[in-house]
Amino acid sequence: MVAWSLRAFDSLDSTNEEIRRQAEAGAAEGLAVLARTQTAGRGRRGRAWESPPGNLFLSLLLRPKATPAEAATLSFLTAVALLEALDLAAIPAKLTCKWPNDVLVNGAKIAGILLESRTGSDGALGWVTVGIGVNLAWHPSETSYPVTSLAAHGVTTAPEEFTNWLLARYGYWYGRWQAEGFAPVRAAWLARAQGLGQPVIVRLPDSELHGVFVALDDCGALLLELPDGRRQTVTAGDVFPAG
Ligand code: BTN
Repeated sequence: MVAWSLRAFDSLDSTNEEIRRQAEAGAAEGLAVLARTQTAGRGRRGRAWESPPGNLFLSLLLRPKATPAEAATLSFLTAVALLEALDLAAIPAKLTCKWPNDVLVNGAKIAGILLESRTGSDGALGWVTVGIGVNLAWHPSETSYPVTSLAAHGVTTAPEEFTNWLLARYGYWYGRWQAEGFAPVRAAWLARAQGLGQPVIVRLPDSELHGVFVALDDCGALLLELPDGRRQTVTAGDVFPAG
């Protein structure tokens, strides 16, 4: 079981950046960094992540004995731990996850997950930073996709309280992932996945795929059954319900 060591800051550039600094300085697995605000919070695809007080900005340092491909499945573990922490917040709404690593409340994004890692010149994994942002008190309004917060559902939770729930659920699932691999995490993720068994459209940078979302493979890639019955593995893209 991972032993968490939580350090709280009033303000940081980015909790992921602080974990990177600490990891490079030799910090042990289990360091968790929480910040009240971030001045340079970062999201996926080089986007900024708005970081006002009241929301959760947390990063975890992990040093799993795993390949970089295996470590990439930690994003699904993170989504499962987040869903279970949101269960503990007793949010009166439907909680689902969306491939690859979105956590949704009634179909609207409530959290962001950003995994970063260091791989040595020999290809071995050095460390993984799991960055987690949760809209507890506030959510942005001008987004190209629906977004929500706990507060929008009438739930008030302080970042410290949510961190306790999240670290407890993360510790449980990380222990299982280390002992049993990706399979139990995948099963837990699929049990709450949006669109499983249904027709979906996967938007790629310059094309679209239509098919039925049938499974995740051992690496977390989405398996799509195409109209002609062939199966296509999708490693990147945005998934939407078809029709
Ligand atoms: C996304 O784009 O969906 C991922 C957003 C991840 C944001 C979190 S907030 C805590 C951690 N520190 C960062 O700078 N980013 C992540």
